[in-house]
Amino acid sequence: MSYAISHWPDTDALVAKAKRLVSEPARPLRRDKLQECLTYFETKCAGSKASTAAAAKLIPGGVQHNLAFNYPFPLDITRAEGAYLWDVDGNRYIDFLQAGGPTVLGSNYAPVRDQVIEVLRQCGPVTGLFHEYELKLAALIHRLMPNIEMFRMLGSGTEACMAAIRAARNFTGRSKIIKVGGAYHGWSDQLVFGTRIPGSGPFEAAGIPDTTLQHTQEIYPNDIDGDNGLRALLERNKADGGTAAVIVEPLGPESASRPVQRDFNARARALCDEYGALLIFDEVVTGFRVGLAGAQGFFQITPDLTVFGKCVAGGFPAAGGVGGRADIMSTFAAGIGGGQQKTLVGGTLSANPLSAAAGYFAILEMERTNAPVLAGQAGDKLCAGLQAIIEDLGLPFFAYNHGSILHLETHGILLLDVSDPDFFPKLSQRRKIAEEMGAAYTAAGIITLAGSRLYTSMADTPEVIEQALAGFRRVLESVEGVG
Ligand SMILES: Cc1ncc(COP(=O)(O)O)c(C=O)c1O
Repeated sequence: MSYAISHWPDTDALVAKAKRLVSEPARPLRRDKLQECLTYFETKCAGSKASTAAAAKLIPGGVQHNLAFNYPFPLDITRAEGAYLWDVDGNRYIDFLQAGGPTVLGSNYAPVRDQVIEVLRQCGPVTGLFHEYELKLAALIHRLMPNIEMFRMLGSGTEACMAAIRAARNFTGRSKIIKVGGAYHGWSDQLVFGTRIPGSGPFEAAGIPDTTLQHTQEIYPNDIDGDNGLRALLERNKADGGTAAVIVEPLGPESASRPVQRDFNARARALCDEYGALLIFDEVVTGFRVGLAGAQGFFQITPDLTVFGKCVAGGFPAAGGVGGRADIMSTFAAGIGGGQQKTLVGGTLSANPLSAAAGYFAILEMERTNAPVLAGQAGDKLCAGLQAIIEDLGLPFFAYNHGSILHLETHGILLLDVSDPDFFPKLSQRRKIAEEMGAAYTAAGIITLAGSRLYTSMADTPEVIEQALAGFRRVLESVEGVG
């Protein structure tokens, strides 16, 4: 099996660069350059401005998805094809948002789209009854990841994370869930804790009662042996009913915004075995993007449960699922009198024919075309190019990648330290800079995720990457203090 990750970044060196980036004064765009970029939006994006202003009256924040929030206003996208997006004003962009990760084949990939349309013609998007593509998808996932002995499709990664921790609690009879600070496991009540920034606990948990979060705990990224590390927490929990599960994003929180040490997952696996806790891999991003056997194949680790999202429906709606050990998965089907209490999950649109067929055909196409590896090669080329530009311009920024998942750190919001007395002022200052950088990349014809993360796809040919690097160079040359 081949993987998208061609080399392992030096985690210690990245942590040192991150520390330096957030300890030095932030480096925003020069004000004249920012003005040029805002002029682009005013003069070239009038259609987007009008439609998203109208949307802001009816839709909270003007957009339905956080990823679409762009300064100075969101773009109204009308067309997507391969590596490119087009807005309503006819401007073309290189798409490194990739909808947050699901489209490893590139956007609007015709061979999958056409198969899905055929399924839609035959039975529409939903019947509520079994469809053969549910079985085909489960069998395909089992072939690629043999430890996924059973697979349950759900409506989103959020639902799948929720289902995984519920099954873990039901199966083990324990309540505590340990996550890695900074990781995003969707927005369900129990997992909005230590979200995005390690140590942030309930910062983002407005509307969630404290009692709901009392069994959710976080460790600091890569902290196995520290006073509040994974081992210590598992040990402490032993006296308090025990730990049901440890849930990790296998490359590190927020798709490796805080990258893991290469041996972290193996050490977490060993500790889970020692303490009888289940290990859950949240492969919502990594599942099929890192390789067809996922991050678990790459690390050669067998989690007890795996959470899927995004690629599992090939970029089509209702993308979520949980799979793993048959004895745990069977609890989703258990009933009264079966000796095991049922882990309740549902969803009117879970496993509809459209999502199941889309996931099946997309993953098959990814296998046929070797898309994860091609996307990873594009990521390697983009990352090397970005790092060369950064060094050439003498900036304190840095870029790194795990195959097709890239980080371009210019402001370091997610790298801030919550114990820093200046945490909140730094956060708001750097958030502004992040928005401006994102806007400048857009004006240079490049869409990123929040101005700092990039996903590549199979459609990112060397020419696309060269074109993107020229755009990134123009923006990075516009940073204060360059030249
Ligand atoms: C690692 C991870 N887990 C879970 C989720 C939640 O998935 P969804 O947006 O489908 O609810 C995400 C979404 O970005 C994610 O990145």
